[in-house]
Amino acid sequence: SKDQLILGIETSCDETAVAIVRNGREIAANVVASQIESHKRFGGVVPEIASRHHVEEITIVLEEALKQADAALEDIDAIAVTEGPGLVGALLIGVNAAKAIAFAHQKPLVPVHHIAGHIYANRLLTEMKFPLLALVVSGGHTELVYMKEHGHFEVIGETRDDAAGEAYDKVARVLDMPYPGGPHIDRLAHEGTAVIPLPRAWLEEGSYDFSFSGLKSAVINTVHNAEQRGETIAPEDLAASFQESVIEVLVEKTVRAAAEYRVGQVLLAGGVAANKGLRKALEDAFGTRGDIELVIPPLSLCTDNAAMIAAAGSVMFEKGVRGSLALNANPGLDI
Ligand code: KG4
Ligand code: ZN
Repeated sequence: SKDQLILGIETSCDETAVAIVRNGREIAANVVASQIESHKRFGGVVPEIASRHHVEEITIVLEEALKQADAALEDIDAIAVTEGPGLVGALLIGVNAAKAIAFAHQKPLVPVHHIAGHIYANRLLTEMKFPLLALVVSGGHTELVYMKEHGHFEVIGETRDDAAGEAYDKVARVLDMPYPGGPHIDRLAHEGTAVIPLPRAWLEEGSYDFSFSGLKSAVINTVHNAEQRGETIAPEDLAASFQESVIEVLVEKTVRAAAEYRVGQVLLAGGVAANKGLRKALEDAFGTRGDIELVIPPLSLCTDNAAMIAAAGSVMFEKGVRGSLALNANPGLDI
């Protein structure tokens, strides 16, 4: 039978992305236009600037993706688009582009949850084996998601305040590093030698929730207290100690949840999955056990992209999920 081709569109934050995925598993095109340079001087993503860039980029990125896949819109089986969560103005550009294509070419529309997309990035690498556990860590999310089958998502733990990536970006700002700070802290952390005591937020016994704002405040206080005493703290020691605290909690809770839920596979997802320390700690925790398979996507599939949206969209399309032309952006969408 004919190959299934899903067009994916992602504009929830600061990347304008369009991709085409064949049979749910194979990337035929994956184009990402990053806006990081435009947001850098503000130290974070400015929603209004993000929306305007998406408007300017979306048709260019779409055409590039079709060219890459050597496909025409007529060949596409369905349009998958990120419906939420994210910045409402940013999401609207993708949703409206998807609706315009769906209407003009009489194609089905498939709304996709951004986090489902991050998780399904893993299906572009390997077969998903259920039940599984996904650790989603990005600038906007920190979640442990249990899946017993395709399309079933149970959030068993989530952050109560800052997302892990957000904490990285805020700590980086205190250390005078450019946005986004995650990769800079990651690099610096490997040069640290002395341990600076910082808290770990385990929360209540048995909880899979996270909290990073106390850690972030502890880092800021450590810097300010040292300044007041006329001392300086080596930034590499602070970066290493901060990263150690984040990773210890993420990995410990993931290991515990994987055992309690008896999963056979653990998937890593989201921009913070690029973190070298986190990847290594997870490999150390799961790599030696034969019973749980650890999957870590390449960096290009960890950060926001549309191939992950098309991959999730492929499964949702087969499950009969459809969006109407009244589909709206949903900035606070629950998974
Ligand atoms: O998934 P993503 O591209 O966008 C969101 O949906 O948020 O994640 C971006 C986040 C930023 O906070 C960035 O600092 C963080 O991922 N990040 C990292 C690393 N690379 C990116 N955090 C820690 N270590 C890294 N190597
Ligand atoms: Zn994301």
